[in-house]
Amino acid sequence: MQKIRVDLGDRSYNILIDTGNLPDIGKGLLKFEFSKKICLLSNPTVFGLYGAPVSRSIRDEGFELAEILIPDGEEYKNLDSVEQIYGEMLKARLDRKSVLVALGGGVIGDMAGFAASTYMRGIDFVQVPTTLLAQVDSSVGGKTGVNHALGKNMIGTFWQPRLVWVDTDTLKTLPKREFLSGLAEVIKYGVIWDGEFFRFLEENAGKVLAHDQEALGHIIRVSCEIKAEVVSRDERESGLRAILNYGHTIGHAIETATGYTRYLHGEAVAIGMYAEAKLARRLGLLDGEQAERIRAVIDSYGLPSDVPDDIPFESVLSSMRLDKKALSGDLRFVLPERIGSVKIKGGLSRQEIEKVLEKSS
Ligand code: NAD
Ligand code: GLY
Repeated sequence: MQKIRVDLGDRSYNILIDTGNLPDIGKGLLKFEFSKKICLLSNPTVFGLYGAPVSRSIRDEGFELAEILIPDGEEYKNLDSVEQIYGEMLKARLDRKSVLVALGGGVIGDMAGFAASTYMRGIDFVQVPTTLLAQVDSSVGGKTGVNHALGKNMIGTFWQPRLVWVDTDTLKTLPKREFLSGLAEVIKYGVIWDGEFFRFLEENAGKVLAHDQEALGHIIRVSCEIKAEVVSRDERESGLRAILNYGHTIGHAIETATGYTRYLHGEAVAIGMYAEAKLARRLGLLDGEQAERIRAVIDSYGLPSDVPDDIPFESVLSSMRLDKKALSGDLRFVLPERIGSVKIKGGLSRQEIEKVLEKSS
């Protein structure tokens, strides 16, 4: 088992990473002073695969468990579902010492965190992430939230979990496209923070894509270590944490401009990472050879790197302006200066942005 500490004073917590540890989650919960009433939040897809061992393990330790299932899909990550979750938590008589356990990907984890942060003014929650994206990114760091008809993740809180329990075996059932999408966030950590990790990714694509246990364990651990370090230094994104948005300014706009149906989040981030590397090159921050290494690694993990040419620039630009990351209308980009180090830059001209969104640039 690997243990990573997210250091946040009295809100510090551990990320525990192992293989085959899902049936031990009940024992993991015993280490805290939670009350006996517990809720498990999941969706029918994940619950069908892993609900039985998780529920059994929790009940075996003497907890009274209520199971809450929300239909599978980003379209259910909204306040209607949260209202339903509150109702189930109240019916199960969860008290202020109860814990809400999130079993699933980022959708379930984000909703669970939001519901936990607001139920009775805030109760504990535990993340049991089952997608690669959730294991390396969304389950760590305490950003919770739901979508609003006018914008993705626009309603949310910062609320840290008490524990993140990762069983990498769950990735065996994850659809390949979802697995690849999660790898985009892994590549992101190499570019923003750790050139040596980036080199590992360059050299071990074959092993990672073949689900080699050692390689997988390594990339999940290093990703969590980097995220834990960044979040520990800047929990509320007043500065440093924004570097985690590398690839996201353009990526998120592409997702919005294509109605969230064409690309998975990581696929759009992969396109955004290369576009933002090209932007850094145009501005003289990054040399061409490093930008091409970023493109090559994205390609080697089967992710897209080109901005599709059928999306009008105006719709990408207006989506970027609506993004939470824009400050008073100024678009801010996380730009690599070299692999392993980035800087944040605003005040870019429309022409500079438009240029890198062209396929031939
Ligand atoms: P997801 O939760 O929708 O899961 C993807 C699909 O995989 C779903 O159909 C799910 O049911 C299925 N699935 C999950 N685990 C499985 C398994 N082990 N085997 C088989 N199928 C499985 O998507 P995601 O990519 O995990 O998360 C995306 C969400 O995360 C978005 O809503 C995004 O906004 C959010 N997010 C949050 C943060 C954060 O910091 N809080 C960071 C990044 C993304
Ligand atoms: N996924 C970006 C962050 O957690 O800040």
